Amino acid sequence: MRLKKFGNTGLFVSELCLGTMTFGGEGELWRKLGTLQQAEADTLIGRALDAGINFIDTADVYSEGRSEVITGQALKNLKVPRENVVVASKVYGETGTKAANSRGMSRYHILDGVKASLARLQLDHIDLYQIHGFDPATPIEEAMRALDDLVRQGHVRYVGVSNWAAWQIMKALGISERLGLARIESLQAYYTIAGRDLERELVPMLQSEGLGLMVWSPLAGGFLSGKYGRSAETQAEAGSRRIAFDFPPVNKERAYDVIDVMRGIGEAKGVSVARIALAWLLHQKAVTSVIIGAKRIDQLEDNIAATAVELDAHELAALDKVSALPPEYPGWMFVRQGEMRRAQLKEARSR
Ligand SMILES: NC(=O)c1ccc[n+]([C@@H]2O[C@H](COP(=O)([O-])OP(=O)(O)OC[C@H]3O[C@@H](n4cnc5c(N)ncnc54)[C@H](OP(=O)(O)O)[C@@H]3O)[C@@H](O)[C@H]2O)c1
Repeated sequence: MRLKKFGNTGLFVSELCLGTMTFGGEGELWRKLGTLQQAEADTLIGRALDAGINFIDTADVYSEGRSEVITGQALKNLKVPRENVVVASKVYGETGTKAANSRGMSRYHILDGVKASLARLQLDHIDLYQIHGFDPATPIEEAMRALDDLVRQGHVRYVGVSNWAAWQIMKALGISERLGLARIESLQAYYTIAGRDLERELVPMLQSEGLGLMVWSPLAGGFLSGKYGRSAETQAEAGSRRIAFDFPPVNKERAYDVIDVMRGIGEAKGVSVARIALAWLLHQKAVTSVIIGAKRIDQLEDNIAATAVELDAHELAALDKVSALPPEYPGWMFVRQGEMRRAQLKEARSR
């Protein structure tokens, strides 16, 4: 398990992060994603830590708060020294109570949200606190000031966002710089070999600004694990997540072509399709940490083993070709108009 520098910070996190969305099973939606209880969660977290994972991702909304409770209790049960683990959580959605101010990224909700998360996790600080989604009703400055207060008060060490657009993050970075506030250090986003949309705007922005990238649903909710294919979706056993909850959206016809190529590479290496899908992400320079989800220990083992899969240039090229995004404006003009200047740069650098 390699450690990666977390964006521009001095923090080091493992290349795999353990997702905890399968813990709890409270609430109609969350029950479809997983119903693991304390003992099973203790086993998964214990194994992840033994394998060198030092990064755990949860959120207030997961299983109506139960995921945070179980995660915090597991760290206690396993007697994990606080400095051995980087705990990430999130605020934005409604958790339990439903009221006009129990949602969003307002100062009001962020300050309430962190208190409730700390209590559920039984921790005195959260290492990475992320705004789970962009709130069109709250000025960005209000949210950034509230997050900065949390950093100054020691409740939170670093600040991140999830599911934001590039322009929203750039706007927030400008505000933080102008006002001397704690800045956004990371983005948590959906990225898979079957969904490379963020390569258009977000990846160049992250690289330009030195932000970390945490990838969620790296198997597209299990779709890229090898148990779904063009022949029949029935290969997946009853209870498989995508049968109950067909999310995140995937262009299945295109994805089946990608799965065929991954299957060929996996068979040649004697490894699962899931490992190839995760290994492809681990080979992408912009990716800091891939958040893996597992319902069972054998899935966790399979996913951990992806860190040992090396893809050579030929394999990466085949995967890139079958999964490439269709050209989109202004990208195709960047390619055209930048050609001459890129050639000049290359020549100058080679001297
Ligand atoms: N920020 C956000 O908006 C957001 C959104 C979603 C997730 N997340 C984070 O990302 C983490 C991971 O997301 P995810 O759970 O959706 O990840 P995922 O890897 O795309 O899907 C996980 C599911 O795929 C199946 N699976 C996992 N490993 C497998 C393997 N090796 N072989 C076969 N099937 C396998 C399991 O479901 P089945 O056995 O039922 O098929 C498992 O529950 C979450 O825990 C959470 O921390 C964040």
